[in-house]
Parts: sequence; structure tokens; C-alpha cells
Amino acid sequence: MAARSTQRSKIRRMPLIDPILLKARLGALAGRFDVDALDECDSTSSELMRRADRGAPAGTVIVADRQSAGRGRRGRSWLSSPERSLTFSLLWRFPGNASRLSGLSLAVGLGLAKALEKLGAVGVRLKWPNDVLLQSGSDFAKLAGILIELSSDRRGTQAIIGIGLNLETPDSDLPQPVAGLKQCCAQADRHEVLAAILVSLVGVLDIFAAEGFVRLRDEWLGYHAWQDQLVQVLGDGAEPLPGRCLGVDGDGSLLLETARGVEHIFSGDVSLRPVGRAQG
Ligand code: BTN
Repeated sequence: MAARSTQRSKIRRMPLIDPILLKARLGALAGRFDVDALDECDSTSSELMRRADRGAPAGTVIVADRQSAGRGRRGRSWLSSPERSLTFSLLWRFPGNASRLSGLSLAVGLGLAKALEKLGAVGVRLKWPNDVLLQSGSDFAKLAGILIELSSDRRGTQAIIGIGLNLETPDSDLPQPVAGLKQCCAQADRHEVLAAILVSLVGVLDIFAAEGFVRLRDEWLGYHAWQDQLVQVLGDGAEPLPGRCLGVDGDGSLLLETARGVEHIFSGDVSLRPVGRAQG
């Protein structure tokens, strides 16, 4: 009995993404990507980082059904379940050092929002710096998270772009409201969704590489969840900074009108003031 179950556990499950089916949906852009689908890994971003260190080309994508150590922003862990979410990481390279890449996470969020909207999703919004939310009336819930990790050397900067998208609403006990794509979009087939996101990301990343976030800013603002609303910027260990959110600047910083005037916020976690509604 024990021997049989050991044998069974060695049988490799077929990952939920089939790179051949995906390639067919990437059309003319198929040549820009090299996709590997895994049944399980620690974190698609960690796995991609190891492969990047061994010389993997830009456009390498790792998509995994299960992550045993999925990572979120600010040291948090990222939980996902195979049938209900899409977790993948994309390797991209840029010339120059990381200081030229301010606004990259916003550009990626924009790529994601545009892809989901193209699939038919209604109510997709962006929260600075890089959450994708679903708006329903005056409520916002997190649909996807983005984690970007940069490293530079004399040849330029590599970005590991990790994306976790809920296809179905997670039922775990999370500290903030969460949503799934199926709530707002008829087309949630994982091959279609991943292909649409990759195609859209090429579009925004090419513009970003050539002209920077400034060229994408107006489009980003069109999806901005908190435009002109009262928010507070929560930083690690710092006092919450309240103000009115005026949008984002061409360098990707958040523009916050505070008692001291308009301030540029370069990193942090924004949450709405508690004014009796759910916050994303
Ligand atoms: C966030 O905290 O909002 C960002 C979450 C990013 C999660 C994705 S899932 C795929 C990739 N692999 C990881 O370990 N993290 C990112």
C-alpha cells in the first residue's frame, strides 16, 4: 500500500497550461515568449530568477499550478490554488540601471487591466502602485497582485514580473476583500487569459522601454481607483499620511495633496480612509 502511494506520488501531473495551446493564442507574438508550465515550484519568480541567472532569455515565462512559497509584496506570502488562479512570472530586460524604471509596476498593471478589459471584464481598476481591483458599486476587491523584482549589472536591468490573478474568488480568510475574474468576465479560460495578458504586456513594455511611463500615464489614470479621493499612505513604521489623491506623475510617483502641499510618494501602500466602505 505504502509502495503504491509512493509510486503514485511520483507520477507527474499535467500542468493546467499547455504551452502549445498557449502558443496558438499568442499569434504573431509567439516568438517573443518561451513558456514553461510547471505542476509545482516554490515560487514562479524564484524559479525564473534562478533561470535568469543561468542566462534564460527575455520573454521567458514560468507558469505554475502550485507554489509552495509564493511571495507577495512587502514580505507577505501569496496563496493561490491551482484550479482557481493563474500564477506566473515573466522575465524582461531593459537597458540602463534600475533608476530608469520608475513606473514599471504601473505599466504592468496597465497591461493587465487592458488585457482583462479586452477579454470582456467590466469594473477593472488600478490601485497605486500595482494592484488590480474589481469595482462593484462603491466597493473594491483585489483581483490580481503584481510583484516586480529588479537586478542590474553592466549590461542593464532585468525585471522578474510576477503576477497572481484570481480566476475564481478565493475563499480563504484574507484581510482585504478579494474578487475573481469569473465575477466580471465571461471569458476566463486560463489559456485565453494568459495569452491576452502576455500580448498586452508586450504592448505596454515596448512603449515603456522606448518612452517611459510618461507615455502610459493618461491611460493609467483612466483606470485609477482612487482619483480625487481621500486616502492615506501607509508606510513601514511611519505615521499614516492623509491626503487627497491627485493621480500619478510621469515618473510613476503618487501625487498626494496634503496639508503641506502636493507631495510625490515613491513607494508605499495606499488605503482609503475608513469612510464606511470596503477598501481594496
Ligand atoms: C502582491 O502582494 O499583491 C503581489 C503578489 C504577486 C504574486 C505572484 S504569483 C506569481 C509570482 N510568484 C510569486 O511568488 N509571486 C508572484
